[in-house]
Amino acid sequence: MRMMSSLLSTENLSELEISALFRQADELVNAGFPQKISPKIVACLFFEPSTRTRMSFQTAAYRLGHRVLTMEMAESSLIKGESQVDTVLNVAAMNPDAIVVRYGNSPELDALLPKLDIPIVNGGSGTKAHPTQALLDAYTLHREFSGAVRGRKVLIVGDIAHSRVAHSNFDVLAKLGAEIGVCGPEVLLPSSTSVTQKIQRFTNLDEAVEWADVYMGLRIQLERHQATDLSLKSMGDYHQHFGLTPDRLKRLKKNAIIMHPGPINHGVEFANEVGLDPRNRIFAQVTNGVAIRAAVLAQVLTARQECSK
Ligand code: CP
Repeated sequence: MRMMSSLLSTENLSELEISALFRQADELVNAGFPQKISPKIVACLFFEPSTRTRMSFQTAAYRLGHRVLTMEMAESSLIKGESQVDTVLNVAAMNPDAIVVRYGNSPELDALLPKLDIPIVNGGSGTKAHPTQALLDAYTLHREFSGAVRGRKVLIVGDIAHSRVAHSNFDVLAKLGAEIGVCGPEVLLPSSTSVTQKIQRFTNLDEAVEWADVYMGLRIQLERHQATDLSLKSMGDYHQHFGLTPDRLKRLKKNAIIMHPGPINHGVEFANEVGLDPRNRIFAQVTNGVAIRAAVLAQVLTARQECSK
């Protein structure tokens, strides 16, 4: 099997490669994250805020015995006006063994990153892609349903148009044979593309919730909205129409699971009752994220080591 040399998107990953990554994550967890290769330097460049992804990559790197370089945006030369492209080029010139990068919509970085000869792992790029989130989401389903993801009905609810998580999930879940449904305000649903044509669109969340084996809520990303999108004053209204309310929790199948990539707007996409619901797998996603990111780092670092022999 081809070893992953970078992870910029899930689009080049086959179903077999995704399954191999899940096996590697299982093995790492079961073996207590054995440190097989000499310590490497992993640089984390986050040009957008993050709690889960950044700390999860850091935890994964440390668990594997590697060292992590992080750059605090507010203390970097970005505040002197240095561009993100120049920042990446300078960090790459220090020759770390891998760079994990998160950034907003940036055609310049999209063009630069694949050209670097250092392994690059995408920690979330604009509204386009969040490959490791989609992989950890699918890994959570894989673990939950004992490997049987094919045919599971995954309902993704909320701000899909602005969600890099949803876009990568469409790709990974389709490759694993899951059925995908979406529900949300029309203005926040994905535009019709060849990918989204295979996706079932629900206008009524009460109906959709009864269909679902997996309910995946998404955060309303106000920071990415245009003036034409939802207005803040309609958030209470949003919760009534598109929130997971106590009534909808009752309609959701008993053996369904509830997921959310975080951060959560409590009282908007999820009622407070979701936190205590036994179907909630939100922290399992976070735990599984460390295993998936460890597997990704192990692959790209090993591929680089093999290349340099
Ligand atoms: N799910 C996710 O990407 O969370 P962070 O923005 O906190 O990394």
